[in-house]
Amino acid sequence: MGVTGRKFPHWELVAMLLRLKRMRHGRMGDGREEELVEHVLAVAAPGDPDAAIAAVDQFAARPNRFLINIGAEKGAILERAVGRARPTRLLELGTYCGYSAMRIARSMPAGAHLWSVEPNPANADVARRIWEHAGLSGQVTAVVGALGDGGGTLRKLRERHAFGPGGLDFVLIDHAKNEYLPDLRRILAQGWLHPGSVVVADNVRIPGAPGYRAFMRANQGRWWRTVEHAAHVEYQRLLPDLVLESEYLGGPA
Ligand SMILES: C[S@@+](CC[C@H](N)C(=O)[O-])C[C@H]1O[C@@H](n2cnc3c(N)ncnc32)[C@H](O)[C@@H]1O
Repeated sequence: MGVTGRKFPHWELVAMLLRLKRMRHGRMGDGREEELVEHVLAVAAPGDPDAAIAAVDQFAARPNRFLINIGAEKGAILERAVGRARPTRLLELGTYCGYSAMRIARSMPAGAHLWSVEPNPANADVARRIWEHAGLSGQVTAVVGALGDGGGTLRKLRERHAFGPGGLDFVLIDHAKNEYLPDLRRILAQGWLHPGSVVVADNVRIPGAPGYRAFMRANQGRWWRTVEHAAHVEYQRLLPDLVLESEYLGGPA
């Protein structure tokens, strides 16, 4: 079975869920993110994003090497959303090891740029090393911080990265589940979206972002138009998940 549809033995699934509960600061806690960099550099040809993505998937499908990437099944949903939106300026919340950023980068139009926000500098460093190897450093920038840190990261995005009114075409939300809606509201309050901007949110069912889903449902057809994509939690086929793809129609935070 391929990496999109691996059937974890039940004990391995339980071990994976327990480890997820023990995660601290967005890391699995056993050095596997550093090991991933070594693996990608060893097996993927330099300058080849497809090879780097395949190498990450191969690593994450190994026993006890599960990673909290969006994975191949939901990554394909993400890439189709990017293809439809044809965005120029993109933002990601939750870089981790830079996997979803590579999927976005290979699907976005030439000349587009993705900024990816991540509070853990060690994760940002892992992602940068993988992007550098994949030849994507010119298209993707890791920004260490969090939109909810009291204003520093929002200011950094405005002042260093020229974020401004109506300037953001696409957002991937894939970070702390209780921050999905607050961070979307922060983005709206900055006025960075425009009618037609697209926001994709991962893990809306597991671990779950019920407040975010309720917000999109309450505003369906008025300020947002959302499609819910049924999928599975990354790298297995037992646990269902949801990816929300929401087009902004205009309206308040
Ligand atoms: C599920 S992982 C992201 C996976 C990544 N998008 C991918 O598919 O390759 C979540 C990441 O969000 C980060 N994170 C946690 N709180 C955050 C916040 N407030 N803003 C941005 N990132 C955050 C964690 O450190 C972790 O690296």
